Amino acid sequence: MEYLIKKLNNLVQEKFEKCGYDREYGRVNVSNRPDLCQFQCNGALAAAKKYRKPPIKIANEIVEELNNIEAFEVVTAIMPGFINIVLKDSFIIEYLNDMHNDKKLGCTEAAEPLTIIVDYGGANVAKPLHVGHLRAAIIGESIKRISRFLGHKVIGDVHLGDWGLQIGMVISEVQRRKPDLPYFDEGFKGDYPKEGPFTIDELEEIYPAASKLAKSDENAMEQARKATYELQNGRAGYVALWKHILNVSVADLKKNYGELNVEFDLWKGESDSQKYIGEMINYLKKNKYPYESQGALVIDVAKEGDTYTIPPFILLKSDGATLYSTTDLATIWERIKEYDPDQIIYVVDKRQSLHFEQVFRCAEKTKIASEKLKLDFIGFGTMNGKDGKPFKTREGGVMRLQDLIKMIKGNVKGKLKETKSIDETEMEEISRKVGLAALKYGDLSNQITKDYVFDLDRFSSFEGNTGPYILYTVVRIKSILNKSADEICKHGAKFTKPYSGVERDLMLKLSSFNETVEQAFAYEAPNRICEYIYETANLFNKFYNDNKIISEENIDKKMSWIKLLLLTKDVLETGLDLLGMEAPEKM
Ligand code: ARG
Repeated sequence: MEYLIKKLNNLVQEKFEKCGYDREYGRVNVSNRPDLCQFQCNGALAAAKKYRKPPIKIANEIVEELNNIEAFEVVTAIMPGFINIVLKDSFIIEYLNDMHNDKKLGCTEAAEPLTIIVDYGGANVAKPLHVGHLRAAIIGESIKRISRFLGHKVIGDVHLGDWGLQIGMVISEVQRRKPDLPYFDEGFKGDYPKEGPFTIDELEEIYPAASKLAKSDENAMEQARKATYELQNGRAGYVALWKHILNVSVADLKKNYGELNVEFDLWKGESDSQKYIGEMINYLKKNKYPYESQGALVIDVAKEGDTYTIPPFILLKSDGATLYSTTDLATIWERIKEYDPDQIIYVVDKRQSLHFEQVFRCAEKTKIASEKLKLDFIGFGTMNGKDGKPFKTREGGVMRLQDLIKMIKGNVKGKLKETKSIDETEMEEISRKVGLAALKYGDLSNQITKDYVFDLDRFSSFEGNTGPYILYTVVRIKSILNKSADEICKHGAKFTKPYSGVERDLMLKLSSFNETVEQAFAYEAPNRICEYIYETANLFNKFYNDNKIISEENIDKKMSWIKLLLLTKDVLETGLDLLGMEAPEKM
């Protein structure tokens, strides 16, 4: 559906044109003086200069025309030349009815859907999932949902870190511990172990031990490098072990991401690009892009006019080993071959922005990426503790995602228990949903690029600009609707008119849902949806506090309110879903 504000724009612009002025001057804004009017147009002031007329004269001419328009209740020209607009209630209601009848609540699906790959999550196999990956998961999931809601073909890919040094570390650590395993035979020919030599719990202990050792012992580090290199070059026993590592890790990761309500369409990783690396390097060499520098194979990506130094892109290390940069370039190659995307969106820590700048430039320069492909880096800031440093456990270690979720759930549960008697299984489910909302909303309500402070008590508060507050508002609406179910059945929900100013404000807020979602997509900014649902929830709660909805005896009035509740609920729930959250039945 066309935005309400665009409809108004058209109406007013037409009149500017009719009176002999440029259409552009007829632009309408939401009023910044809601006590005076709902919308305003300041175009007469600007037009005055061009047409050398007093602005109020122009404003008066336009107002005279606008007064004939059905949609407007009052239009007035105000000195020195503002045009104030108040809409007819019937016009607003008609818009809301159309919106409610639309399955996308007024949002327009893309006429030409794009194929978009969202690369997010980015967990590293064999390492536990920690809060550093939390933002990637939360933000990426929301970007994916928003794009999909608007009709695009979206593919979410977790892009596992499954091909790096950490795998070599694990392999050589296992070799130190259990040298007799068949996988270490040079001539190993079997498949990967179904009943593997270690479980996820063991793996979680093996990796940190190996990493610690490699840091202090150059020999161990060298072994890890060698193992990584041999794995990448197809040594069968290592490949078998690697597959086992991948199996146990992915099962665990799926559980973890599942708990976050984060779902990927693809569980691919760095290793999947491996099979394309050969042909990609041939292509690059054939076209003379790479050259040797200190033994490594590199491609210059600096451009004239760069304001900071962009080092060359490293294609292969001197020993021929592949790097993070190699797999990222080859993954673009792979994605083009397999999915032909219009856009790839990377949701990654902003500290990797230089890396992506190099990768993108290289892909463009070498024409691996055609002009049609948009490569997009969404770099997010850090989640900090109250000390302003990256969030850690109380002991100063890296916080595991599982533990973080547990902590939040516990906090929320405590609050719920104070107020309600709910049985244990239900309590578990409710605190999961509320806890997730606390965590996700606390994250998504910030601008993506900004660092933010993780504040458990603030995030999980049932009041203020928080996830639980929005959830609570939805639960409140659901409860009123449940209590009025029989009457709704009998009379049917239907708008008559707004019975108060707050109600009208809420209606106007609801009418801009489509604009909000489409802007959140265009600017890759889920925080706009947070802001919008917060304002909507506030208006609703004001309306709720002013009125006794359930005991209202005037049935027309009550059914109009119910209609408003239904629409508010749909808008809030859809907004929450786009952010990856959901309200419980009660809380
Ligand atoms: N595994 C990486 C990390 O933990 C993130 C991967 C991001 N995606 C990508 N295509 N490089 O830092």
